[in-house]
Amino acid sequence: MQNMQELRQASDATITLNNGVTIPQLGLGVFQTPQGEETIGAVRSALQAGYRHIDTAMIYRNEESVGEGIRQSGVDRRDVFLTTKLWNDDIRAGKAREACYRSMDRLGVDYLDLYLIHWPADGWEQAWEQMVELYRERRVRAIGVSNFQQHHLESLLAMSGTKPQVDQIESSPQFVNQELVDAVHAKRIDVEAYSPLGGTGGSLLSDPLLARIGEQYGKSPAQVVIRWHLQRGVIVLPKSTHAERIRQNSDVFDFALDDAQMRAIAALDTGHRNGADPDHFDF
Ligand code: A2P
Repeated sequence: MQNMQELRQASDATITLNNGVTIPQLGLGVFQTPQGEETIGAVRSALQAGYRHIDTAMIYRNEESVGEGIRQSGVDRRDVFLTTKLWNDDIRAGKAREACYRSMDRLGVDYLDLYLIHWPADGWEQAWEQMVELYRERRVRAIGVSNFQQHHLESLLAMSGTKPQVDQIESSPQFVNQELVDAVHAKRIDVEAYSPLGGTGGSLLSDPLLARIGEQYGKSPAQVVIRWHLQRGVIVLPKSTHAERIRQNSDVFDFALDDAQMRAIAALDTGHRNGADPDHFDF
């Protein structure tokens, strides 16, 4: 990561993954954003506000609209880092390759920047082998996993000569998940944080600590939390469907939290996740 003080906009902050591919550290998440104008508009607004990284998944059922938003933005597809994810049914059916092609069709692209195994569903080992083939064939520039705990990653590394570039996991000040973040980083794999603002319907953003810290810099609680993620060196994927919030969430490069503030924010940790537990999920 570059010196945070020198960065002025979303597209400037990048991380180099373990295969040499560069990823913008801030991306727009579109979980639960419905297909149609809501997703098209969110993606278009993000790209026009300077984002260069969009994170979707087959199961969000909005891939067509993500592709349309990119086209409507006027930004060259090659300048956008685009991620989608392999759904559990396709993992269980051994159809990673077909699923990847179908996702690219819906997105209207001929390569992906990052393709992830969405959950460690039964059969993920075989799916990983197919993902490695897609990577070798250069249909995807990077491959990774999501919701993998340390033991899943260790199994993967023991069976495959190809390391994932990222593990996308739940992480926010309310569920810091620091032990896993550290374990993933120790394997030289990057961490992507989902539900970074505490997730839809969460209470994190109304915590008075965030408002108090934000006041000092003229920033909102969401901006403070996004800045906290950037400074801890993870890739952060805040979700919003509102153009003004999308813009606001990328305006986080003109201030820096000090060490005491970083620690105080991390101390909001409750240990409770917002989403499903990767060791006990039933979908
Ligand atoms: P909305 O989409 O209505 O803007 P996460 O990224 O942790 O999943 O959290 C997303 C939630 O936080 C969404 O419900 C989103 O609502 C809300 N949100 C995103 N950005 C902001 C912001 N700048 N201020 C307040 N709420 C926000």
